[in-house]
Amino acid sequence: MAAGENRILLKNVDQPGYGRDIDSYISKGGYEALKKAVGMKPEEICSEVMDSGVRGRGGAGFPAGMKWKFLDRKSGKPIYLVCNADESEPGTFKDRQLIYKDPHQLIEGMMIAAYGTQTALSFIYIRGEMYDGARILEEAIEEARAKNFLGDDILGSGYSCDLIVHRGAGAYICGEETGLIESIEGKRPYPRIKPPYFPAVLGLYMCPTIVNNVETLCHVKHVIERGGKEYAKLGKPGNTGTRIWSVSGHVQKPGYYEVECGAMTYGELINEVCGGMRPGRKLKAIIPGGSSSKVLRADERFQGKLKDGTEFDWGVEDIPLDFDGPMAAGTMSGSGAIIVMDDSTDIVAALANINAFYAHESCGQCTPCREGSLWLKKVTARMVAGEAREEDADLLKSIADQIEGRTICAHGEATAWPVQSFILKFRDEFIDYARKQAAERKAKDSKTAA
Ligand code: NAI
Ligand code: SF4
Repeated sequence: MAAGENRILLKNVDQPGYGRDIDSYISKGGYEALKKAVGMKPEEICSEVMDSGVRGRGGAGFPAGMKWKFLDRKSGKPIYLVCNADESEPGTFKDRQLIYKDPHQLIEGMMIAAYGTQTALSFIYIRGEMYDGARILEEAIEEARAKNFLGDDILGSGYSCDLIVHRGAGAYICGEETGLIESIEGKRPYPRIKPPYFPAVLGLYMCPTIVNNVETLCHVKHVIERGGKEYAKLGKPGNTGTRIWSVSGHVQKPGYYEVECGAMTYGELINEVCGGMRPGRKLKAIIPGGSSSKVLRADERFQGKLKDGTEFDWGVEDIPLDFDGPMAAGTMSGSGAIIVMDDSTDIVAALANINAFYAHESCGQCTPCREGSLWLKKVTARMVAGEAREEDADLLKSIADQIEGRTICAHGEATAWPVQSFILKFRDEFIDYARKQAAERKAKDSKTAA
């Protein structure tokens, strides 16, 4: 554990002698929270989660207790619980640590959530590429079933619920909750229009469904273990608990770090926990919440008022490492994937890489996303190939502006935001790129002519 971390979800992970088998987990107090939970009323579980203030760790930061409250319990239809383990956001590698290294923590969190919401059947939808992860979960589920932590009449409570592992097939859009639901139903993962109907009302098989991220469901175990109000003492109001940050890019020690929300700034995480930039290099930019969030320049300043009325005047490195800090700076913490870029970064090439990803992963259902993402990819690929034009910056922005807000799911915004923010913040680099290439072409032509 690095200095400054507060490991709760990752407490046992990477410890010598700790296996991912059920005996290891039980030796560390595993499944005690489930035993406590089944002695409580289901509505008490929901109240504890509400009191904890725990927010979704998948990307949107929506309060988990609130989502559970929105469940349509009057419909008389079965309720489903789905764990979103399709972790695919570029730069994100936190859920796989929890799945591969401590699968029982997730299973325990899920069975508590299932009991609290009186779920009829639960699913873990796991990214297709995590082949070993699916196998690990299936083995762990069998171990848990043998000890009656799931299945029929769980721990003699009279409550029964099974847990199914469903593998995806490698499509990013399956991580969008309604695309994921369509995929479990055996269809193409075309996201559904929401609002008006969110999965909590019409989800899997048109029944009320809770979709929560892996990390969120692991937190549920700790909420019940500590009690919601006690858990809420971790972090700060509105940003409770810990978060696992995936740090990649040009730092000395990239990796996954679990830090109490708001306990440090982005600068402290990068410079102290991650060992700072590579030798002789300076910070150029960070993408704070996976590639779907807006890029921040190292020399930007942000001023304004926080929700509680506190005035702030931050540089990038002063932004608090929580949900609301990046929002105040006009971006978002998303899935907690921090991509760090130093002054050696070719910003046009970085955007070309991001554009290629979103074009490849568009499901093709809406025209602005399908056509626009491809166009963005083609323009930046041409620029990188040596045919950049000065007007490309405006062209890229105009395409992105016509995608944002005109699509069925957030993939449209995820495609547009990087382009808009890269152009806004590094416009000069895009124009210089074209000028430099034009000068090089001219020099080459005159050499050939001579
Ligand atoms: P969202 O803001 O639409 O919804 C958040 C959650 O709250 C959803 O589960 C939604 O059903 C629920 N919700 C919102 N309003 C509701 C209401 N009135 N009634 C009932 N439920 C309601 O965001 P979304 O599309 O779920 O997530 C987008 C985020 O996902 C992005 O921020 C992105 O960073 C992240 N993401 C994460 C990935 C990963 O690998 N972890 C992959 C791709 C995107
Ligand atoms: Fe598919 Fe893109 Fe439309 Fe989302 S925005 S539904 S990914 S085409």
